[in-house]
Amino acid sequence: MRPTAVIPALCCAVALVLSFLCLFAGHKKGFMEDYHMLTLNTSQLGTNLLNSSILDSLPLPDDVRNVFDTVQDQFGDEVNDVVLQVADSLGVADFYSAHLLDYCWGDYVPTPLPNATVSSDAIHKNLTACSPAKAMFYFNPNEIIERTLNESGVDVTLDDLQWPDDIQTGIDALRIIQRTAFVLYCIAIALIGISLLVSAAALFTSGRLSACLNVMVSVLAFLAIGLASALVTAVIVKGGDLINEYGDEIGLEAHKGSKFMAITWGATAAMLVALVDWCLETCIGHRRRKHAYSGVPKHG
Ligand SMILES: *[C@@H]1O[C@H](CO)[C@@H](O)[C@H](O)[C@H]1NC(C)=O
Ligand SMILES: *[C@@H]1O[C@H](CO)[C@@H](O)[C@H](O)[C@H]1NC(C)=O
Ligand SMILES: *[C@@H]1O[C@H](CO)[C@@H](O)[C@H](O)[C@H]1NC(C)=O
Ligand SMILES: *[C@@H]1O[C@H](CO)[C@@H](O)[C@H](O)[C@H]1NC(C)=O
Ligand SMILES: *[C@@H]1O[C@H](CO)[C@@H](O)[C@H](O)[C@H]1NC(C)=O
Repeated sequence: MRPTAVIPALCCAVALVLSFLCLFAGHKKGFMEDYHMLTLNTSQLGTNLLNSSILDSLPLPDDVRNVFDTVQDQFGDEVNDVVLQVADSLGVADFYSAHLLDYCWGDYVPTPLPNATVSSDAIHKNLTACSPAKAMFYFNPNEIIERTLNESGVDVTLDDLQWPDDIQTGIDALRIIQRTAFVLYCIAIALIGISLLVSAAALFTSGRLSACLNVMVSVLAFLAIGLASALVTAVIVKGGDLINEYGDEIGLEAHKGSKFMAITWGATAAMLVALVDWCLETCIGHRRRKHAYSGVPKHG
């Protein structure tokens, strides 16, 4: 019996649950939507179209056009309203959120822009749908927006929107990282599961061998979940910064998934505690046995 093995076993259980949640958060509509990696706020997309001739090809009501023709103040409420209507007429949703297995989209309710009566805290996401969950999924906003424009039948392309090439280049670079992160989460879940089983088995044995085995498995599990967390953090931070930097002028904004980062690093921390615990257990157990041997009386 080794009652101290309860602590690392519990840590493994926590890490296992958290890493499952990382993988499956948002995999279907309404399941942990807040735990997205990135959310693109596309409600203002097309801000830069306002003065362009492309506007003529959009199905906009005449009064909206007139407002824009008469209002010269670029930042007034009326212009904001026109911007929202332009985005709507493009057929683009208000937001697109990226998860490990899919992406979801929908609209901000009651309105995407806070105003005098609606504070930013009162704005919520209203999900419309999610793409089918799929292994090795990667989030490609360029393709999503392009397909939306194609399907909505407006005669506007990504080029017309002046979609920055740098976003495309950056997202391409992140694709391989995103896929690697998915594979690492799967490996991490398997290793953490094995770690949990070995820890639980160690509750009923006391040999040094089982402690060593636990150290080995938990090192691997810790490395896998740590690396997965680091990669996904890179995608969130790099991708978010990139989109905010280059997307600003076309009205694109990215929100980074802080809750997702919290659970993935939480899982990593839990595995670190389990690992440290098993290392201590191995050393202390070793010393304990040494003392026990030296206490054995010697006979002739
Ligand atoms: C639109 O044109 C007006 C007047 O020509 C100019 O003042 C304004 O800055 C332009 N707005 C945008 C978004 O380009
Ligand atoms: C704020 O937005 C809401 C929802 O679109 C609208 O009903 C309300 O009139 C707006 N308030 C102001 C002061 O513009
Ligand atoms: C949320 O979206 C659904 C359709 O996807 C719609 O029926 C519902 O009215 C929306 N809710 C709000 C508060 O706008
Ligand atoms: C959108 O349409 C263009 C031209 O028809 C085509 O080349 C492009 O592949 C389409 N994009 C998507 C994502 O379907
Ligand atoms: C969406 O982005 C616009 C700027 O592009 C910002 O003003 C607005 O507050 C954002 N809305 C939400 C709900 O994040």
